[in-house]
Amino acid sequence: MSTSDFIYACLKKDIPMNAAKNVRVAGLEIAIFHTAEGYVARSGVCKHNAFKLELCDVSGDIVSCPRHGWRYRISNGKGVKPSWTQLDIYALEIRDEEIWVQAIADQSNQDDFDTSAFDW
Ligand code: FES
Repeated sequence: MSTSDFIYACLKKDIPMNAAKNVRVAGLEIAIFHTAEGYVARSGVCKHNAFKLELCDVSGDIVSCPRHGWRYRISNGKGVKPSWTQLDIYALEIRDEEIWVQAIADQSNQDDFDTSAFDW
């Protein structure tokens, strides 16, 4: 896949303001968020224990996972609680009423901390 490849994800109208929709693109689960800043594509699941982010609470620029309280800043994917975590970031394009995403995560700001061994 070339870095310029974008894949159709969903329609803009599928995602209300202050909400997210999970889509499956090239085998990846990606959450498309709709906030006052527009649309962005992030990891589809919480980094703690894989709860779907489309089922989480979106308030302004913050998405909060109801399972154990992890929170993320939607605009840059950075963890708020805990601060060391990071959602994957995917490029997104709006084409008329459609949302297209690039199924290659931006690796430039990834944490390398494996939380899978922790009992949170
Ligand atoms: S699964 Fe999201 S905080 Fe635990």
